[in-house]
Amino acid sequence: MKLSFKKIEKGAPFLSVHSYKCIDSTNTVAKNLAEEGAGEGTAVVALQQTAGRGRLGRSFLSQKGGVYFSIVLKPNLNVNDVVFITVAAAVAAARAIEAVSGKQCFIKWVNDIYLNNKKVCGILTEGGFNPDGTLKYAVLGVGINLFEPKNGFPTNLPLAGSVFNKGCKIMLKNRKKEQIIAQFANDFFAIYNQLDKKEFIKEYSRRSFLTGKEITFEKQGKTYTATVIGIDDDARLVLSLDGKTEALSHGEIQIVGMEQLLV
Ligand code: BTN
Repeated sequence: MKLSFKKIEKGAPFLSVHSYKCIDSTNTVAKNLAEEGAGEGTAVVALQQTAGRGRLGRSFLSQKGGVYFSIVLKPNLNVNDVVFITVAAAVAAARAIEAVSGKQCFIKWVNDIYLNNKKVCGILTEGGFNPDGTLKYAVLGVGINLFEPKNGFPTNLPLAGSVFNKGCKIMLKNRKKEQIIAQFANDFFAIYNQLDKKEFIKEYSRRSFLTGKEITFEKQGKTYTATVIGIDDDARLVLSLDGKTEALSHGEIQIVGMEQLLV
């Protein structure tokens, strides 16, 4: 049974929800709706995706047991500041997952939520642009693995995890999913409406999964190893690299070999 758009809208009255059991990608459908003129708060939710998309052109496993949703936004933002939507969404997702699970969540810069050292949620913000290159709309997409897929996560995704253990009843699962979307939307819009104040970056930084860890990353084709010192006020990753402190923005580097961090 698909999620109840009424229950989600009751918890988050500023959303206009389109609910599907299974679609290709909630981001794709939300982008199409935005292109057709859908307003801010138009949301697309699904229990399964056949072509879920992740960052950097990757696919996002979207089997039964998760919840996948996208929200159309019409921000008055410079294209370079769209990343703050993702940052704000990471804070809201961490809070919402904590609220339904009672378990502490961390944010792996820039867009992944970790619980018990496993990735349980990914966030993808995509923009639509005017002919002059300015932002026309943004689509914020969130995928949360609430329950493990029937046959477990594939072995090629060693870091994937789920918020809940097996054993909850089907109806409870749907209720949790509706609740988590509404909770997320309330927290997200509270932050988004004051995005320029950047208050939420303190919480983002407090929840940083990478702080204190050694990471390997690629920058302009070269590989480096550095220790993460923290997150700065612009949500950049602050690193100690060869005795120097550097702050890097999300577009500049690509973190590699996350598995190393968990052993
Ligand atoms: C990532 O981990 O790289 C980001 C994953 C984002 C997945 C969500 S699920 C809902 C929305 N629809 C998509 O196709 N992608 C996003």
